Amino acid sequence: MKILVLNGPNINMLGIREPGIYGKNSFTELLALLAETAEKENLEIEQYQSNHEGCLVDKIQEAYGKFDGIVINPAAYTHTSIAILDALKAVAIPAVEVHISDVSQREDFRQISYPGLACVKTIMGRGLEGYREAILYLKEHYA
Ligand code: DQA
Repeated sequence: MKILVLNGPNINMLGIREPGIYGKNSFTELLALLAETAEKENLEIEQYQSNHEGCLVDKIQEAYGKFDGIVINPAAYTHTSIAILDALKAVAIPAVEVHISDVSQREDFRQISYPGLACVKTIMGRGLEGYREAILYLKEHYA
């Protein structure tokens, strides 16, 4: 099974950005968690991070016919991006939305998720472990 893990803007700043909200673990540690999960679960996992909405849309389109599942943390684009929502709907690859923080307990402007409308599941507030849970969910339901 091939899984694409997509991360939106500022996720590359993990460990530096607002550690009280996003934790002290770095982006490099997230990449290590993904590599470890791929090995342990016998999955092919590719990770892509971008600060640019169109690049994320391009990557989702390119995933068509190549990946069996998508894990996506659209970061701030969660709350604005109909383009990412439409891309996920276009490729119709099972997608799980991940948020490191518990957005349900945060500001009003974070209460809408456009990409989430095209996702089979949302995991939030579990820190980096949320990515592992999302991958395991896809393996369990779509492998
Ligand atoms: C986030 C939550 C978003 O509201 C925020 O803009 C992010 C990260 C999270 O992982 O908790 O950049 O997606």
